Formats: sequence, C-alpha cells, structure tokens
Amino acid sequence: MDKVLIWDAPVRIGHWLLVGAFALAWVTSESESLRLVHAAAGGAVIGVILFRLLWGIIGTHHARFASFVRGPGAALCYLKGLATGRAPHTTGHNPAGAIAIVALLALGLATGATGWLIYNDLGGHWVEELHEGLAQAMLAVALVHVAGVAIGSLVHRENLVRAMLNGMKRGLPGEAIAGARPLMAGGLFVWAMVCGWWLAV
Ligand code: HEM
Repeated sequence: MDKVLIWDAPVRIGHWLLVGAFALAWVTSESESLRLVHAAAGGAVIGVILFRLLWGIIGTHHARFASFVRGPGAALCYLKGLATGRAPHTTGHNPAGAIAIVALLALGLATGATGWLIYNDLGGHWVEELHEGLAQAMLAVALVHVAGVAIGSLVHRENLVRAMLNGMKRGLPGEAIAGARPLMAGGLFVWAMVCGWWLAV
C-alpha cells in the first residue's frame, strides 16, 4: 500500500486547534486574572467541536462519522486484536480510537457549555463542580487517546502523529480523498477565533 491523502485540512487544523485550545483552557483554569483567556480558549473549543460535528456529516470520506464510528463490539474486537497482535490496520480511525474521539467531542462540548453558564453567572455551585469534573474527565480521556495513538503507531508501524500533520496514511489509491479542502480549514480557523472572542467578551 502507498501513502495516500486521508485526513483533509479541516480535520488536521481542527485537531491541533482543539489540542491548543484545551491545553490553554486547562493551564489558565485556576487563574482569576486570566479568566478572559480561559473563556476565549473554551469558546474556541466549542467552535472547533461544532464545526467538527457538521464536518462529520458533510466532510470528506474519512472525516465522516458514518465511515469510522462503530459499536462497542467492534472496538472490543479491535482491542482483542491489539492484545494478540492481530489488529487489522484501518485507513481511517480504528473502532476503539473512534470511541475516544466521540467521548472527547461530547466532553468538550459539555465542558464548554457549563463553562459558558458559569461565565454568565447562570447556574449555581453544582455547575462549577460539573464543569471541573467534565474537564478532568476530558483530560483523562485525552491521555488514554494519546496512549492509544502511541500504541497504534507502534503496532501498525505507522507514524499516526505525522499523519495528523500531513494527512498522509498507508492506504489503497481508491481510499484517498480527492482534495485537502484548505479553504474550509481557513474558515474553521476564523470561526474558532470568532467563537473564542464572542463567548469571552
Ligand atoms: C499532543 C497530544 C495529542 C496527540 C499527539 C494526538 C494525536 C492524534 C492522532 C494521531 C489522531 C488520529 C488518530 C488515528 O489515526 O485514528 C488524533 C485524533 C483525534 N484527537 Fe488527538 N492527539 C493529541 C491530543 C488530543 C487532545 C488533547 C484532544 C482533545 C482535547 C484530541 C482530540 C482528538 C480528536 C477529536 C481526534 C479525531 C480527529 C478527527 O477526526 O477530527 N487529541 N489525535
């Protein structure tokens, strides 16, 4: 199999924007003076995820949820395969990774929404507790996700982080997407910045 274009630019830009915005929100979470930065980072997280949900329906083949989200049975089967060294290589996301991805998107949205409530003095102390719990759960899933990426890279002898940077993975020519959609990625970047600014001020 050759290296073919699998991840379009919106998936890649969205991923690294999400990583950056989540990290920024995390490190500013305890600071009173950096509340505005924290809220803007949270707004960007919401913006990226809302875009990703839409892109999961109208995006390129491997970005679509229908192409990679499978049930827990398929995820278990893949994990068993990993344990026995017989996990099949997937051109897009593998079924276990897909579960972490869906969880990260859901947790990111819920963390952002509860943060917005707190920022606007809506809801009580329990919303603050919930916000903190959701953020911690998201960090835990993100760590499992990064470990999964490392294991997947080793088992399949494929640098998955590089693939999330340049979009290229091992695959058949027929599995390649037609184009990277860079304009859409530019639109996503602007949209995420607008969401950050809009929700923070
Ligand atoms: C520096 C740490 C991270 C690295 C190296 C990393 C790497 C990757 C890689 C290689 C993939 C593709 C996996 C595959 O081939 O199936 C991926 C997907 C994904 N990652 Fe990460 N990740 C990191 C942190 C995070 C964090 C912190 C989040 C959430 C806050 C996150 C959310 C996601 C999501 C949502 C996807 C799916 C991308 C899409 O289809 O749009 N990642 N990540």
